Amino acid sequence: MVNFFLLFFHINKKKTTFALTYRNRNKSKDYNKMEKSKVNPASGKLGILIVGNGAVATTFMTGVLMARKGLAKPIGSMTQYDKVRVGRGNDKKYLKYSELVPIANLSDIEFGCWDVYPQNAYQAAVYAEVLKREDIEPVRSELEQIVPMKAAFDKNFAKRLDGDNIKREVSGEIPTRWEMVEMLREDIKMFKTSKGCDRVVVLWAASTEIYVPIDEQVHYSLEALEAAMKADDREHVAPSMCYAYAALTEGCPFVMGAPNTTVDIPAMWQLAEKTRMPIAGKDFKTGQTLVKSGFAPIIGTRCLGLDGWFSTNILGNRDGLVLDVPENFRTKEVSKLSTLETILKADEQPDLYTDYYHKVRINYYPPRNDNKESWDNIDIFGWMGYPMQIKINFLCRDSILAAPVCLDLCLLIDLAARAGRYGTQRFLSFFLKSPMHDYTQGEEAVNHLYRQHTMLKNALREMGGYEADEEID
Ligand SMILES: NC(=O)c1ccc[n+]([C@@H]2O[C@H](COP(=O)([O-])OP(=O)(O)OC[C@H]3O[C@@H](n4cnc5c(N)ncnc54)[C@H](O)[C@@H]3O)[C@@H](O)[C@H]2O)c1
Repeated sequence: MVNFFLLFFHINKKKTTFALTYRNRNKSKDYNKMEKSKVNPASGKLGILIVGNGAVATTFMTGVLMARKGLAKPIGSMTQYDKVRVGRGNDKKYLKYSELVPIANLSDIEFGCWDVYPQNAYQAAVYAEVLKREDIEPVRSELEQIVPMKAAFDKNFAKRLDGDNIKREVSGEIPTRWEMVEMLREDIKMFKTSKGCDRVVVLWAASTEIYVPIDEQVHYSLEALEAAMKADDREHVAPSMCYAYAALTEGCPFVMGAPNTTVDIPAMWQLAEKTRMPIAGKDFKTGQTLVKSGFAPIIGTRCLGLDGWFSTNILGNRDGLVLDVPENFRTKEVSKLSTLETILKADEQPDLYTDYYHKVRINYYPPRNDNKESWDNIDIFGWMGYPMQIKINFLCRDSILAAPVCLDLCLLIDLAARAGRYGTQRFLSFFLKSPMHDYTQGEEAVNHLYRQHTMLKNALREMGGYEADEEID
């Protein structure tokens, strides 16, 4: 009798957050296979509408277009490379995601975007200087056809941007927040019809907005948020919230790739529930935080102590320019700081993790452009409290790491929608620096990279008709 309970961090609003999954190992040879869960097929075209046509967005689009011509490989993408074990013992097999669940094909993707600057995706990719010209030219004509729609923009939220491809009223004024929503809804409808898309996902890969602290009066109920939009409350309603509201109302899943609090508020959770749409956020987990969420478990697993973790970066692209403004950096700082606290916890190990100092800096340094360099200095202590240091120096390429994350988030949130999942998709935490969770109920984010991977695999197993059979310790 080998019955046991499996604690599964669930990701679907339809079920409880920490659902107990029951497994009977001896039942049958094919014990692990459940009745195939209902996931609609990925038929027709998938529209990916990107807010922002900058370094990340153009690297993502160029890579997909190149990959489907067989001219580049989508390296770093879990949906294209990772395999999930299903079954156990002799029944065990490893399946690629597309063999387990119906994932949209790269050749079925149609791109569109909004940006403050009018340059088409080809011009923007050349400007971003992430990719070599020889890796852009073969898809030049496709990229030239991706011309950004006018942005729903308010300069107070990103002061360093001076583009004029923005939505205006006839008077020249920027529209009210509610008018922004209505205009964006029209954009989405028009894109969907003109491209003949079956489904559309909206992905925020635009600049980090200034920090919008969560205000219970405005952000805790959908009714209050809608009232604030109609009253044109420009302090509490960021333009990104208008994109998210428009997307969900038009039946499109929404992904927040910047650290903006946009969908990380109860009002948006309610909208996602009302519209039965999945949401995910926030902040793509790419370089330094990926390393942090993968390295902190080494310290925790080995029961070493932590005195301090100092993380600094130099970055010279437009993202770095926007983040050079303290109000915008604050949004990023909050996101980057949240990682360690749920992995190395003082309440679980007071001798090891009480009062460690955690600091994150980003410095704008134009010569490096997109080639961000990060340094981590980690002060640890061991046997009898003796101090030691670890240094990590990651010379990465920001957008090269972000592009596959964009692809995976879009394909997986589209899958989630077809599987009937809605609300916050916690199984996508793996891809995010500051994963969403219901903080109003005291729920904690899962930042531990390997636990996040388990959540991802368990969700895929479930959607593929298998039991979520891996435990999260
Ligand atoms: N590259 C990474 O590793 C990484 C990791 C995590 C998060 N991010 C986030 O992804 C986002 C994109 O990064 P990037 O390097 O492409 O930046 P980028 O500056 O090259 O591109 C952002 C684009 O968004 C546009 N934009 C700003 N506000 C807009 C609005 N309201 N509507 C439409 N367009 C708008 C800007 O004009 C700009 O072209 C940033 O918020 C960044 O913080 C990037």
